[in-house]
Amino acid sequence: MSDKPHILVLNGPNLNTLGVREPEIYGHKTLADVEALCGQMASQLGLTVTCRQSNHEGELVTWIQEAYGSASGIVINAGAYTHTSIAIHDALKMTGLPVIEVHISNVFARETFRHHSYISPIARSVICGCGIDGYGLALRTLAKGKEHE
Ligand code: DQA
Repeated sequence: MSDKPHILVLNGPNLNTLGVREPEIYGHKTLADVEALCGQMASQLGLTVTCRQSNHEGELVTWIQEAYGSASGIVINAGAYTHTSIAIHDALKMTGLPVIEVHISNVFARETFRHHSYISPIARSVICGCGIDGYGLALRTLAKGKEHE
């Protein structure tokens, strides 16, 4: 196994439809583009990444649990579960890992139901409205550790 820090990059429901779904909000880049960006950024930063996407809350919870003991950090765009899921909040908290919350769109410029996040209170950082570049920034932030604080 590699001795490089390992990061889990998780995408939640509907993010498999990136590129097709509301391109005026989410842009034209696909999930494959997000995963390629994460792979490239990770190799530049001396990290390894595993990228996963699911439309199922429980599957996301299981993958987060598995990150305990095997990953050094988690980048998560939980999609709509951001605004609803105490289960994802609890699982992320259990890992004790640094969590970076990412949203492609600026959720604060959208409907009020997108303004609340169950993830933000336990996240080290929250990145939104930067398009898919937000994932790269999240990996950079994890690679830097706490030195920027
Ligand atoms: C999103 C914002 C969420 O409100 C929405 O439900 C998504 C995508 C984003 O990346 O901007 O599915 O997380």
